[in-house]
Order: sequence, then structure tokens, then C-alpha cells
Amino acid sequence: MPDRRTADTALPTGTDVDVVDLLLTQHARIEEQFLLVIGASGQARQRAFDDLVRLLAVHETAEEEVVHPLSRTIADGADGIVDDRLQEERQAKEMLTALIDADVDSDGFETSLLLLRNAVLTHARHEERYEFPQLRAKVPADRLRGLADVVRAAEAAAPTRPHPGAESATANLVAGPVLAAADRARDLVREAARRIES
Ligand SMILES: [Fe+2]
Ligand SMILES: [Fe+2]
Repeated sequence: MPDRRTADTALPTGTDVDVVDLLLTQHARIEEQFLLVIGASGQARQRAFDDLVRLLAVHETAEEEVVHPLSRTIADGADGIVDDRLQEERQAKEMLTALIDADVDSDGFETSLLLLRNAVLTHARHEERYEFPQLRAKVPADRLRGLADVVRAAEAAAPTRPHPGAESATANLVAGPVLAAADRARDLVREAARRIES
């Protein structure tokens, strides 16, 4: 069976895991998923690419809804740092949207994918260098641990690995249009954020 290959770096679990741990793990998974897309062709490449789209949607949604707004509140000059990250996320989203309708085996796909990969990974390194250390330094550890639930909620909206036997709304979602996952992730992230902040 599995011609469905996806990045298999599981999200860390446990009570001491915080939101930064989860985001760092997702960065590693995103990097790995790009390699899986590049290394595949035909239907396998399409599936790996769809998984990449879901993973990016889940990850950037959690950052945009929760992490960047929190970053704005914690340091002098944080607004500039966050504005730059949002600009990078917007650019990556535009590149991704242009790729979604492309034939994954067309000449231009791989070139555009490599450009997207470069943009996404550079963006991730910027977050790791300028944003995450500030969160760890300035936000109480229990708050950062609580926010891990928001990332988990977004993951639940759009799992990027097959769930054998999961005949549920989740399974339907995986089969559905990949961008629907981004909307669903946004709803669940907002719901989870409201829950833990109340
Ligand atoms: Fe981001
Ligand atoms: Fe990120």
C-alpha cells in the first residue's frame, strides 16, 4: 500500500512541551516534506504536495492567529519584526497559490517549488532567530505550554499523515480540497485560543 509518503516527524507530546517546541518540529517537517515532493513524481508527487499545502496552512495559521500577535506585545521593536514575518508569509502564500493549480510534473513546477522552498525555509529561520527566542525569554513558561494546545488544534484540523481507520469528518477533510483545510484550521485555532485564554 503506502505510496503515500509523508514527513513522519511526530509532534512532541508531554506536559513540558511548549508552543515553540511544536513550531520548531513543524519547521523540520515542512523542510522534510519539500524533499518528499521533490523526490516524487506523478500521483505520489501530487499527494506529497497536497500534504505540504496542508502542513503549511496549519502551521502558518497557528502563527498568524496566536504567535505573531503575542510577539507584538513583548518587546521593543517587535512590531517591525512581526510585520516582516507577515510579509514573508504573504509572499509564500502567493507562491503556493500559484503552484496549487499547476501540473506537478510540468517543467515550471519544480523551479517554482524550489523558489517556494527557499522562501519558506528562510522565513522559518527568521522566526527561529528573531521571534522564538523573545517568546521564550519574555512569556511565562506556563503560557507557552498552554499555547501548544492551539497548534495541536490546528493539526487536528488537517492531519498530514494517513490515519488508518479514521472514518470521520477528519478523513473527509483530508480527501477534500486542500485549501479548505486552511479555513478549518483557522476556525479551530480561534476556538482553542479562546478556550485557553478564558
Ligand atoms: Fe511563519
Ligand atoms: Fe513558522
